[in-house]
Amino acid sequence: MTSQTLWEARKYEEAFGKTIPPQARPDFHLSPRTGWMNDPNGFCWYKGKYHLFYQYYPYDTHWGPMHWGHAVSEDLLHWEYLPAALAPDEVYDRDGCFSGNALTLPDGRHLLMYTGVVRERQANGGCNEVQTQCLAIGDGVDYVKYEKNPVLDESGLPEGCSRYDFRDPKLWQEEDGTYRCIAGNRPADGSGQILLFTSPDGFEWYYKKALAENHDRIGKMWECPDFFQLDGKWVLLTSPQDMVPLGFEYHNGNGTLCLIGDYDKETEDFTEESNQSVDYGIDFYAPQTVLTQDGRRVMIGWMQNWDTCNHRRTQEEGWFGQMSLPRELSIRNGRLYQTPLRELESMRRNKTVHKNVTVTGSVRLDDIRGRRIDMEVVIRPEEGCDLYRKFAIRFAQNDLYHTSLSFRPSESVLKIDRKFSGSRRAIIHQRRSKVNHQEGQLKLRLILDRFSVEAFVNDGEQVLSAVLYTDQEAEGISFLADGTVNMDVVKYDLI
Ligand code: FRU
Repeated sequence: MTSQTLWEARKYEEAFGKTIPPQARPDFHLSPRTGWMNDPNGFCWYKGKYHLFYQYYPYDTHWGPMHWGHAVSEDLLHWEYLPAALAPDEVYDRDGCFSGNALTLPDGRHLLMYTGVVRERQANGGCNEVQTQCLAIGDGVDYVKYEKNPVLDESGLPEGCSRYDFRDPKLWQEEDGTYRCIAGNRPADGSGQILLFTSPDGFEWYYKKALAENHDRIGKMWECPDFFQLDGKWVLLTSPQDMVPLGFEYHNGNGTLCLIGDYDKETEDFTEESNQSVDYGIDFYAPQTVLTQDGRRVMIGWMQNWDTCNHRRTQEEGWFGQMSLPRELSIRNGRLYQTPLRELESMRRNKTVHKNVTVTGSVRLDDIRGRRIDMEVVIRPEEGCDLYRKFAIRFAQNDLYHTSLSFRPSESVLKIDRKFSGSRRAIIHQRRSKVNHQEGQLKLRLILDRFSVEAFVNDGEQVLSAVLYTDQEAEGISFLADGTVNMDVVKYDLI
C-alpha cells in the first residue's frame, strides 16, 4: 500500500520533474527528478538493470525530511527516473529515511535496508535524532516496509555505542547464504567506528563486532560505509565528518576515506594496512559501489560538499545535487585507482588532436572548447628548456569566468580553483593536492558535464571533483605556462 506521504511525493515529482528542461541539468550525471539530492543509496543490479536510489527531498532545493528517489540504467550513464521508493511515513522513520543499501533475496524479492530517523526532544530543549536500521521489500518499483521494523536499534548495540549516530547500513550475502551488514556509529570516545552485524536470513540481525575504529584519527563520526574485495585486497570506504587537515591528504570538514587491508573471513577481522582520500577535489562524498555484470567494481559518489551545498541553487532551478561519474576501481601499488566508466567512451564524438604544442604564456587551440567534453592533456618540459614553474588549464571560460587546474612541478602540487566560476559566496573554491610526476611530466583527463569537472590524474591515481555553476556560454579552454611546456591534447565532445 502506498502511504499518503509517498503518494504525494510521487505525484509532485511527476508533475514538476517535467518542468525542468534537460539542458538545465547535467547530461550523464544523475540529478534529482525534482528538488534536493544527497547520498547515493541502494546501488545495485536488479532485474536486468542498475538501480540507483538517492537521498531525496522532492519539494525543495534544500535538504528536508528524507525520501528515497529512484532511477534505473542499463549503462550507468543514461538514467530513467522511477517513482520515489521510500517516504518518511512510519512511526520509526517519520523524520527521515536515511541512507542504506539493497540486495536481491534468494526468492527474487528486492530488499532495501535503510536508517529510520525519529527526532527526540532533549531535556535541554534541543533535539537529537534516534537512528535505527529498517527494511523494505519490493519488486524494483514498489516497496513495503517490513512489519517488524526496526530490525536493529540501541538494544542490539554494545555499551557506549551511540543511539543517535547509528546509520547508513550496507548489506551483503555471504557464500554460505548468511547475511552481513555494516553501519556507521559513534563509540563512547565520540569518534567513529564501523560496526558489523550478522543475520541468518536478512531479516533478523545481531551485533558481531567493530570492523574498524577511528580512535579520533581521521575526522569524527564515520558515515556511509562500503566494504568489498578488490584486486586481492579488502577495501573499506567511509565518509568522515569534522575532519582537520592532514597535509594535503585530508581536508577540513566532511571528506572521504579509503582503508585498504586484509579481511579474515573466519574471524571477520579487518586489518588496515593503509589509508588515503578517495577524492582530492572539493565536491565528493558518501560513495557506494556496485559489482557490474562483467565483474568491475564501480563507484558513484554524491558530487557535493556539506559545507558549501546550501549556498547556490534557488527554488527556481528546480533541482540541486548530482552524482559523480561512475568510476571503475582498482588497486595498483597499494593505492586506490579510479578511471571513468569505460562505457563513457561510446559517447565520444568529434575527436580533436593537438600534438607537441609548445605552451608559453597563454595558448588557445582550434576546436578545444566545450562544457560536455572528455579531454586528455599530457605535459612535459619542452626539450632544451628549464623545468617550467607553472602550468594551468582554464576551462568554462569567457571574458568574465574561468575555472582552473594548475600545477607547480617544484611543489608537486595540483590545484583546482573555481573562484572565478561566477560564485557569489565566500565558500571553499580551491583545493590542493600532492601529485606524482616525473620531472614535470603529468597526465590529466578532464570530464566536464555542464555543471561539473572531474579531473583524473595519472591514469586514475587521483581524482579531483568539483561542481561549477558558470553560465553555459562560458565554454572556452586555454592553456598557460610560466616557463615552457610541451603538451599533447586529445579532446572529444560527449554526446
Ligand atoms: C551523509 C548523510 C548520511 C545520512 C544522510 C542523510 O551525507 O549524513 O549519514 O544517512 O546523509 O541525508
